[in-house]
Amino acid sequence: MTEGALSARVTDAPGDPIFGIVELFRADPRPHKINLAAGVYMDEAGVTPILPSVRTAEERLLATATTKQYAPIGGDAAYLAAAKSLLFRTVGGAWGEIESGVADRVQMLHTPGGTGAVRLAVDLVSRLRPGAEVWVGEPTWPNHTQIIDAARITARRHDWITDDARSLNATALFDAIAAAKGGDAMILHGACHNPTGIDPTAEQWREIAEQMAHRGILPILDFAYQGFGDGLIEDAASLRAFLATGCELLVASSSSKNFALYNERVGSLAIVGSDAAAAATIATHARMAVRTMWSNPPAHGGAIVSTILGDAALRTQWESEVSAMRTRIQQSRATFVTALAAVGAGDFSHLLNHRGMFSLLGLADDQLKRLREEHAVYLVSRGRINMAGLSSAKVPIVATAVAAVL
Ligand code: LMR
Repeated sequence: MTEGALSARVTDAPGDPIFGIVELFRADPRPHKINLAAGVYMDEAGVTPILPSVRTAEERLLATATTKQYAPIGGDAAYLAAAKSLLFRTVGGAWGEIESGVADRVQMLHTPGGTGAVRLAVDLVSRLRPGAEVWVGEPTWPNHTQIIDAARITARRHDWITDDARSLNATALFDAIAAAKGGDAMILHGACHNPTGIDPTAEQWREIAEQMAHRGILPILDFAYQGFGDGLIEDAASLRAFLATGCELLVASSSSKNFALYNERVGSLAIVGSDAAAAATIATHARMAVRTMWSNPPAHGGAIVSTILGDAALRTQWESEVSAMRTRIQQSRATFVTALAAVGAGDFSHLLNHRGMFSLLGLADDQLKRLREEHAVYLVSRGRINMAGLSSAKVPIVATAVAAVL
């Protein structure tokens, strides 16, 4: 190898904490293996289905699409309007009614999934607030810190849950807000926290938003699971709390989960400025960042979303599909807690207070290794379990395996 070779003087990068486990799962030849690693919804048969509303939208698109022309840098206008309506919908309002005083101060960009949106948000911090640090809770979605590192910014970790990983430690969270310096950013999960399932209450969100606005800390709301907690509108309580302060805000949303469009890479970044002009200016920098990263977004997933949300009947159908997924996840959670108690694994009833796909079972690395090697059950760090991957057949198997390694 020559001295100047790209591979000179480097060793392998670490595997991804989530997709690395999925790779181990794929390589496992045992037919009874169970994948509860990545946050992906599965039905009773273990299949991640194409939603019927998505199928209908795709049929329409296939019949009517005329071109594969580039989308604008920020994405197609119809998709952006649809994504905006979904995020900022007024409580009790008709579709298309947006929180008062917000419509003008929002600029939307279509991103490749929620990951692209978080990356773009962090990139904006790096471009527009030199010297700012980005605060993330411990634990958080492991890709947050990888993205912050990739943007060459310092990540600041802060506590925010109790030591037993069962509930919110509000004091620790408020201490972190007090410790951050004005101009820093803080990433928070809008709903269905990944990996803990622990969400602040609406009242706590109001206090968090007020404290952050008071301190001049930029909220980056990672909102990848809208609809999987309490409902599409209910889950946006966090977002509404920040809007009420009038502060600037970045919202990274995803259609991977609630439209099950995982491999279409569709999401958005909403830039909420202090006023319309501020949002427009920030968006010029966002488009510059996009042009140097992915140039313009992949169009198909966005077209599916705007077709569904732009048709009242299809939108109603999709809303009931989201609600069915949410109900199934909640049922899996409940039967899993019952099964854990039944096999003598202990009292896990605190999991019933959590929202969305995930909770931490509090397992150490050696226990996770035993789960994989002896029981063919795949979880991620600290025993993050994907409740949306359970089925009535898998629940007793997984509960028994967990009891065996505890
Ligand atoms: C997860 O946390 O498993 C999902 O959000 C998938 C991902 O991109 O990590």
